[in-house]
Amino acid sequence: MLPKSWRWLKDYAAASERLVIGLISGTSADGVDAALVKVVGDKPKRVETLAFTTLPYPAEIRKTVLEVSHDGDIETLCWLNFALGELFAEAALKVIEVANIDRKRVQLVGSHGQTVRHLPPNRNSFAIHSVSRVGTLQIASPAVIAMRTGIPVVSDFRAKDMAAGGQGAPLVPLVDWLLLRHPNKTRIALNIGGIANLTVLPAKAKVSDVLAFDTGPGNMLIDGAIRHFSGGVLNYDRDGEWARQGRVDKNLLHWLMSHPFLLQPPPKSTGREMFGEAFLREVIKRANSLGLTQNDTVATLTAFTAEIIADAIKRFVLPKFGQVDELIVSGGGANNPTLMAMLCERLPKVKIRRSDELGINADAKEAIAFAVLAHRTVMGLAGNVPSATGAKMPVILGSITLPR
Ligand SMILES: Nc1ncnc2c1ncn2[C@@H]1O[C@H](COP(=O)(O)OP(=O)(O)O)[C@@H](O)[C@H]1O
Ligand SMILES: [Mg+2]
Repeated sequence: MLPKSWRWLKDYAAASERLVIGLISGTSADGVDAALVKVVGDKPKRVETLAFTTLPYPAEIRKTVLEVSHDGDIETLCWLNFALGELFAEAALKVIEVANIDRKRVQLVGSHGQTVRHLPPNRNSFAIHSVSRVGTLQIASPAVIAMRTGIPVVSDFRAKDMAAGGQGAPLVPLVDWLLLRHPNKTRIALNIGGIANLTVLPAKAKVSDVLAFDTGPGNMLIDGAIRHFSGGVLNYDRDGEWARQGRVDKNLLHWLMSHPFLLQPPPKSTGREMFGEAFLREVIKRANSLGLTQNDTVATLTAFTAEIIADAIKRFVLPKFGQVDELIVSGGGANNPTLMAMLCERLPKVKIRRSDELGINADAKEAIAFAVLAHRTVMGLAGNVPSATGAKMPVILGSITLPR
């Protein structure tokens, strides 16, 4: 007999459809994305998004997240974990309100949290006294989220994959495979967040056929440059306006494209540690010495993101899978028309579509994914794709926190 506190689990397992909330703030640290989804079937068979909302971070919180991510003191990390827990809970309550349903009907929350450090195993990781410097940390206390919402929370998704020898990222590929694979088309699902990553879904793919990896920076450097040039007033290049008015500089682009991460074969993942503040400072220094205008620099960084993605497809995907029929784009970068045009130019043979055309809100995709991954955890199903993360085996991801 299950103790009373675990009976929700029995109800959850017995249901044929469940309402689940997915929460994430990505490397852009722009705010909490919250998706409320109906999950149909156990694996699941189908996922319907009932509501989506973003709760922007207050400026002070965003600044602290970015600071902690490159040079954090433990006290700040400690309170920020709780402060973000409150914001994540608020985002969950907000999406319930948007969906206009009774809170009690929501059975589960999957919270990715906010990554403040991600140190995956790779060729560049070094060992001190034989301790390998591998680890990952997502904050936004699940205890706070569970208490404020009254709903069980699955969190800390990345650690288990890394404990199994994986990169802990990307984790969305399993959901891409569940929702986007096609019987006779080879598709790539591309998410352009702070970091860009892609999932290759060959026609009729089995889960073990899936290849996925981080291509490199997505919006991160563009956002950083805009913040720098605007003295912190602007956070991103809205509708790609700055980039559209600039000229791509071949010299700077050539130097950017020589970054060793781009040549490293998958599986691979990256983050702010590699393409954050320090790298941006170096880029700006070079742009200045080349005499580039601010618009030129933003244009070149936008071209860099497009070029990395196209290059990764040509280098790692086409030789292995032959033709790619469709590139299905999601993430905030899909809203940048200059970036999307640069991508189309570089991949003339590939049909590029927004994920919205396939029923998945492009801004909501990662939040939806973490709702599905939380569901898989509770159902005792693996959430990682070993061919994507490099883990030695499929594992059930995350930790469960009960309310009250
Ligand atoms: N209208 C827009 N024009 C240009 N860029 C946009 C637009 N909307 C969103 N973005 C970009 O998307 C980023 C947020 O994307 P998101 O998918 O939330 O990334 P993350 O997962 O890293 O948080 C913003 O920081 C910005 O760079
Ligand atoms: Mg975001």
